[in-house]
Amino acid sequence: MRAVAPGRVVVGADFSEAMLRHARVKLAARAARGVGLLAADALALPFGDRTFACVTSAFLLRNLADLAAGLGEMRRVTMPGGLVAALEITRPGVRGWDAIFGVYFNRVVPLIGAAVAGDRAAYTYLPESVERFVAPPELARMMTRAGLRDVRYRRLGLGTIALHVGAA
Ligand SMILES: C[S@@+](CC[C@H](N)C(=O)[O-])C[C@H]1O[C@@H](n2cnc3c(N)ncnc32)[C@H](O)[C@@H]1O
Repeated sequence: MRAVAPGRVVVGADFSEAMLRHARVKLAARAARGVGLLAADALALPFGDRTFACVTSAFLLRNLADLAAGLGEMRRVTMPGGLVAALEITRPGVRGWDAIFGVYFNRVVPLIGAAVAGDRAAYTYLPESVERFVAPPELARMMTRAGLRDVRYRRLGLGTIALHVGAA
């Protein structure tokens, strides 16, 4: 954001202190300045209404205990006319490719996670959370119900990632 809009204040939030430590290391490696980080719950953001010109999330939504509430919070803290953008993993939704993706994600990823990261549980949770999560058209409808306008999405990464954008 600061690269395209210098002078803007950028704030990153996660409720995991461990993830915030990773973020601090990454920001330091990029010599990024003017980016604040804080521990915050996406279901109760510690910001006033209409604070930000743009609110984004990356791979957050499928982890929320209450998706509608999280979308409502993103909209609440966005200025009128500002944008809400959400990146999330999704099933490709194309017969054939969907099956291949399913085998890779449900069978291969947990094995790789166990071998490389030593954490099979985390890489079993990952495909399960994608499986449970709403498909892109339904997420677009939920964003609209949360009060966002002109919601659209496009698929990236061979259809496995969806980028949703809506206006507050
Ligand atoms: C898959 S990670 C993505 C992390 C980071 N956004 C990225 O793209 O690398 C999902 C993150 O969502 C965070 N998370 C889940 N529920 C949350 C909530 N209610 N409030 C804040 N963060 C939450 C987790 O702590 C975790 O760091």
